[in-house]
Amino acid sequence: MKKVLIAGNWKSNKGITEAQDWLRQFKLQTSNLKLETTRVVLFAPYTLLYALKQEIDHLHLPIELGAQDVSSYPDGAYTGAVNARQIKELADWVLVGHSERRQYFGETDEILEKKANQAKKLSLKVIYCVPDDKTAIPIGVDVVAYEPVWAIGTGKSDTPENANTAISTIKAKTQVMTVYGGSVTDQNVVSFLSQDAIDGVLPGGASLDPMKFGNLIKNAAGL
Ligand code: PGA
Repeated sequence: MKKVLIAGNWKSNKGITEAQDWLRQFKLQTSNLKLETTRVVLFAPYTLLYALKQEIDHLHLPIELGAQDVSSYPDGAYTGAVNARQIKELADWVLVGHSERRQYFGETDEILEKKANQAKKLSLKVIYCVPDDKTAIPIGVDVVAYEPVWAIGTGKSDTPENANTAISTIKAKTQVMTVYGGSVTDQNVVSFLSQDAIDGVLPGGASLDPMKFGNLIKNAAGL
């Protein structure tokens, strides 16, 4: 049985108390679940990582933490930037190249490669997002996420067959584990994970509610 990656992306949502409540409700929702075939990562805003880490340890939850971005620079005079060494104290993963970073923050392939390299220097695991099977992917990333822009946050996911074809193309080039993202829900997750090339999913909206995210994981684990 393949071990699938379920990576929730909270985007720019939630405060500390909401994040702690989410974990407590998630624990209730998934209390009997054995996560032998799923690996769960939560990509949260920087400001929540410390509180989430404390609460995940306290509740003994099988959730790994990730940051949604990383500076393309190391320590130094880069006001406002959060670098890989700082993230490493709180999380094991980073998301690089999400389409919202490309679209709203003007991040280019060149900048994104620098970010991925900074993360790898500190041995952070990198999920590198691409909108199609042609976009450049830096060497050394751990996971690729195929996320067609039109499918993100729209409720219109790609078809499992299309996603499987794009992901097969990406994997043939990179030999790297690749997941699908774009309007994944507890209802459609199994249709994606049943495709042979798809190694996991990256839900955004469906990760905000602990019940929905718990159900999504249960459905994935029941495969
Ligand atoms: P969505 O977001 O699940 O809300 O479409 C996915 C993503 O942006 O990674």
